[in-house]
Amino acid sequence: MSKSLSRLLRREQFAFLGRERSAWDEHLGRARAFLGEGLQAADPGHPVLVLGAGAGLELPWSLTPKHTIGWDADPWSRVWTALRHRRWPAWIFDDMTGGLADLEATARRAVAEPWSGHRRDRDTAARRLAGLIPFLHPDPAPLRAWIAAHRPGAILCANVMGQFGVVAERVVEAAFGFAPWRLDPETPDPLAEALEGWTGRALAAFLDALRDSGADLWLLYDRAVVFSGGALELGPWDEDWSRQLRGNGVPIEASDPLGGLDVAAHVRGGGLELARQERWIWPLAPGQRHLVEALAFRRSR
Ligand SMILES: C[S@@+](CC[C@H](N)C(=O)[O-])C[C@H]1O[C@@H](n2cnc3c(N)ncnc32)[C@H](O)[C@@H]1O
Repeated sequence: MSKSLSRLLRREQFAFLGRERSAWDEHLGRARAFLGEGLQAADPGHPVLVLGAGAGLELPWSLTPKHTIGWDADPWSRVWTALRHRRWPAWIFDDMTGGLADLEATARRAVAEPWSGHRRDRDTAARRLAGLIPFLHPDPAPLRAWIAAHRPGAILCANVMGQFGVVAERVVEAAFGFAPWRLDPETPDPLAEALEGWTGRALAAFLDALRDSGADLWLLYDRAVVFSGGALELGPWDEDWSRQLRGNGVPIEASDPLGGLDVAAHVRGGGLELARQERWIWPLAPGQRHLVEALAFRRSR
């Protein structure tokens, strides 16, 4: 993992931890209860892998079996965890998408001519990068290799999937030196669309690795990010996440952090059964509410 990528993840996590958290109680309580159940249900004969372990806000480390390993590329994440929980678990600091280094190198090549260092103007660089991104296919090889070597009994995904796209955006912004996105939502933005495609491919490959792992899966993730104010209620579960949100007549503005992927449909099958599903609204910040989903898949044994 390059120094620039780990610096970038450290900055993101600092921003996350620096947020006002007074409205997070319900989210943290439910996230800890869900992940805690996953820890307690884990087969003690196998390691437990926690992806997106972060600072341990959402994970009750007091319940972790002896062989629990954290995975988070923020270089400070284990220190935060140690300060909060008085533990020093084994840790992996790698990129779990396996694709960020390629994305970073491609973005830098699009922004400046590799042979002269001359920086292209915004439009040329954005067009070039939008044309190159579809050829990038993130491959979580380090994750697959770790799973093959250690055969975890349970894998907990602690609110990291919704971050893949955000981190990819930050990588592109760092290469440009500014945010190159079209701000008017009515204007097509081929670069943003290409990056959304990258995020969808990264998530699909990541979920394939989890599905093929042989482990029980406890997946906690942001299903939607809602920016509009006003009433927000949850309707019945629906394959189309946008239909779950009810605004009582007030239009809802929401984005999909998962690049169009249907997590349950992607993971189900191959010996995995949906054992539990929950969801709730997390008021993350003024003007930003998240629809959080928590799905547990158990192996049919
Ligand atoms: C929303 S935070 C999760 C918070 C954490 N579960 C906790 O309880 O503190 C997402 C975490 O995922 C990590 N992350 C995001 N993208 C990653 C990637 N591609 N590889 C490894 N870690 C990543 C970030 O460093 C961050 O700590």
